Amino acid sequence: MATPPDSPLLPDVVARLRAAGCVFAEEEAQLLLAAAAEASASQTSDPGDPAGATSALDALVRRRAEGEPLEYVLGWARFCGLRVEVDPGVFVPRPRTEFLVECAAEAGREASVIVDLCCGTGALGAALTERLGAAGSRAVELHAADIDPAAVRCAARNIARFGGRTYQGDLFDALPEALRGRIDILLANTPYVPTDDIPFLPSEARDHEARVALDGGADGLAVMRRVAAEAHRWLAPGGVVLVETSEQQRDAALAEFAAGGLDATTESSEEFWATVVLGRRSR
Ligand SMILES: C[S@@+](CC[C@H](N)C(=O)[O-])C[C@H]1O[C@@H](n2cnc3c(N)ncnc32)[C@H](O)[C@@H]1O
Repeated sequence: MATPPDSPLLPDVVARLRAAGCVFAEEEAQLLLAAAAEASASQTSDPGDPAGATSALDALVRRRAEGEPLEYVLGWARFCGLRVEVDPGVFVPRPRTEFLVECAAEAGREASVIVDLCCGTGALGAALTERLGAAGSRAVELHAADIDPAAVRCAARNIARFGGRTYQGDLFDALPEALRGRIDILLANTPYVPTDDIPFLPSEARDHEARVALDGGADGLAVMRRVAAEAHRWLAPGGVVLVETSEQQRDAALAEFAAGGLDATTESSEEFWATVVLGRRSR
């Protein structure tokens, strides 16, 4: 029998999560109850087996209480209203990055070729394609690439329903030559934490997400700098590349985009607590 989210087990789960230091214990408990119900419904051969549901729940709560990120325990994250699958070690899409998608949707209203470079779960490309499709513009061709094979496998599942294609490799080396000069929107949420700041990240990121997803080199801009230098060769005339940076990195990122021959601008949002740098190739 599936364990409903309003189960009598709820107070106990909330108490265990609170004791482990989870700030949003109530909300997380509801999500874990629902996940356990889903897992036991799909696994148990005996639908009247409440013990199966209870042990599934216990395992999930234990993992969360031991500090595993909620999204890994659930196997998914909410991003721009989409339920995005998240595999262990693959970067969990952050709410603040929804601002990058908003900027891209604004810049790319007429876009037909989208590339999500450094794609992680593929959440950004999926969300942008969904948004442009919902706006009724035109059929969108979606491509996503990452250096981490686990990310590529995860992204492949998340973008399959948009007909998206995935590639594995180092930045632009991963992309098919046929995309050169054709990309209307290049999403690139490169890692941007300076190497020396990694030890100060919350344990959920530091101990559970792949190092390659976080480490942006000495000044946090090492990967972004390479994207800025090469993007103009891949963008279509008028095409735009977008990256997320910290406020402190913004001016240096703008300079890198300008040095890469792009018309560089920046957008910030207090609501999302996010900064995005855009580089447009001239027409
Ligand atoms: C900050 S995460 C962003 C993931 C995803 N775009 C998101 O916002 O949720 C950075 C991603 O860049 C990938 N990455 C790091 N270096 C790379 C490189 N040289 N080439 C391609 N991908 C890279 C990492 O594997 C990771 O998935």
